[in-house]
Amino acid sequence: MAAAAARCAGHGGGGGGGGFLLRRRLLATAAFLAAFGLCTAAADDAATGRGQGHDHVMLSVEDMFPDSSSSSPSCDAPPRDHRHDATSSTTRMTIVHRHGPCSPLAAAHGEPPSHGEILAADQSRAESIQHRVSTTTTGRVNPKRSRHRQQQPPSAPAPAASLSSSTASLPASPGRALGTGNYVVTVGLGTPASRYTVVFDTGSDTTWVQCQPCVVACYEQREKLFDPASSSTYANVSCAAPACSDLDVSGCSGGHCLYGVQYGDGSYSIGFFAMDTLTLSSYDAVKGFRFGCGERNDGLFGEAAGLLGLGRGKTSLPVQTYGKYGGVFAHCLPARSTGTGYLDFGAGSPPATTTTPMLTGNGPTFYYVGMTGIRVGGRLLPIAPSVFAAAGTIVDSGTVITRLPPAAYSSLRSAFAAAMAARGYRKAAAVSLLDTCYDFTGMSQVAIPTVSLLFQGGAALDVDASGIMYTVSASQVCLAFAGNEDGGDVGIVGNTQLKTFGVAYDIGKKVVGFSPGAC
Ligand SMILES: *[C@@H]1O[C@H](CO)[C@@H](O)[C@H](O)[C@H]1NC(C)=O
Repeated sequence: MAAAAARCAGHGGGGGGGGFLLRRRLLATAAFLAAFGLCTAAADDAATGRGQGHDHVMLSVEDMFPDSSSSSPSCDAPPRDHRHDATSSTTRMTIVHRHGPCSPLAAAHGEPPSHGEILAADQSRAESIQHRVSTTTTGRVNPKRSRHRQQQPPSAPAPAASLSSSTASLPASPGRALGTGNYVVTVGLGTPASRYTVVFDTGSDTTWVQCQPCVVACYEQREKLFDPASSSTYANVSCAAPACSDLDVSGCSGGHCLYGVQYGDGSYSIGFFAMDTLTLSSYDAVKGFRFGCGERNDGLFGEAAGLLGLGRGKTSLPVQTYGKYGGVFAHCLPARSTGTGYLDFGAGSPPATTTTPMLTGNGPTFYYVGMTGIRVGGRLLPIAPSVFAAAGTIVDSGTVITRLPPAAYSSLRSAFAAAMAARGYRKAAAVSLLDTCYDFTGMSQVAIPTVSLLFQGGAALDVDASGIMYTVSASQVCLAFAGNEDGGDVGIVGNTQLKTFGVAYDIGKKVVGFSPGAC
C-alpha cells in the first residue's frame, strides 16, 4: 500500500504512466461534476427560543460582540474528551464554531471572514441548494432560476463518457460557500486513529477528507493529511461493490470506485471512495465507514480536513450507522462563537420538547419539514399556508440566515419593523441580504420582538434571543432573516435561528424535534 501511494505521488505532478491516467480521470470526474452543476452543502445548527407568551426578549448589546469585546476572546468551555456514560447508548462529540476560540482551526493565520463575505457566501449556498432542489424534485423545474445558471447541461451525460472526456473544464474560481459560517467537529479516522476537524453538514451525504498523496491538488489544511498507507484498516471500495453505486456521482479507476462531490459555488472534492474506522468518541468507533479519500480538492473549506455528511442519503453517516444508532442524531449549536455545542448519535438524548414530521417525498438528502406560520411578538402573522407549502422548507445547519418565501418574509419584516419603531429604535443601512437593521449605538440593553417559527404537528421554534438578530456592529444589528427571490424557491431554516436548540433528527421515525436551551 505504501509503495503504491508513493508511486502515485511520484507521478501526480509530472504526469505519465498510471499517475497520468489517474490524474486525467480525476480531472474528467471534476468536469463531469461541473457539467452537472451538482451542489450541496450544509452544516448544522440549533437555536433556542423564548416563550411564545412573551412579546419581546432583552438583548445585551455588549453580549452581541463576544469576539470584539476583548482582543483575544477565550473559549468558555474548551472541548474535552468525549464522554459517554455506560448506561446511555449515545455518543457525543463537541461542536465548535469554526472561527471561534474553541476551534482547533481558529487563530493560526489570517483574519476570520468579514460579515460581507459570510453573507455573500451564505447567499451562494442558499441559491445552490435551491438550484439543486429545483432540479432534483420530480416534476418541478423553476424556469426562472434555470435561465440564470450557466452550468446547466441540457441533459446528463453518462458517467463513463464524462470520465473519458478531457475537454470539459473546471469552474474557474472556486468560491467561498463552505468557507464561512459553519461549525466543525473533530473525529478520528484510521488505525491508529488520527484526529481530523471537519465541517459538519446536514445538507450533504458523503463524508470526505483530503488524502495523501493528493494526486492532483489539496487546499491548505491545519491538521496533517490523512494517509491511507499509515492506516492498517484502510481499504478502497471496488467499482463492483454496491456501495459504489450509492454515490450520486461515481467513476472507476483501476477497479477502484471514484467519488465526486461539488458544493454550491464550485468547491469540490474528488478521489477514491474508501473504507476505514471512524472514531466518533473515545468510546465509540464505526468500523468500515465509507468516505471519500480526496485527491483533488478545492474551495475555501477554512483549513478543515474535510466534511462530515449528515444528510438522509445512502452514503451519509446516520444512514451508514443505522444499525448502530437507529438513524437518530441531534445537534446543538452554541449561542456564541466562544461556546461549545454537541453532536450526539443514538437515542440517549432527552426527548425533544416539540416534534414535527420529517417530510421525505422530495429527494434523498435534505431534511424537509412543513412550516405553517410565524409569530412575531406573540402574534400570528396573516400568511396563507399555501405560501409555505409552495416549495416547502428544509432545516439546514450550514445555511446561516433563514430564508423565507417572499410573502412570508415581507409580513415578518413589517411586523418586526413596526414593533421596533414603536420602541423608538433607529433604523440603519442594510447589509448584503439583510435589509432590516438597527443602530443600537450607546445602548446597553435592547428589547426586541420574539419570533417563533411554527411547523406541522404544532411544533414551535421560539427563536432564542441569540438567533433573532445578526450583529455586524453596534450601529448595525439586523433582523437575521431574508426573503427568497421567488415564491417557488425552497425555504431554509438556517443555523442562526437554530442556536441553543437541541435539534433531533430521527430518520426511522421520520420526525425532527426541537428542544430549547439544550446548550
Ligand atoms: C487504493 O487505490 C489506490 C489507487 O489505485 C492505490 O494507490 C492504493 O494502494 C489502494 N489502497 C489499497 C489499500 O488497496
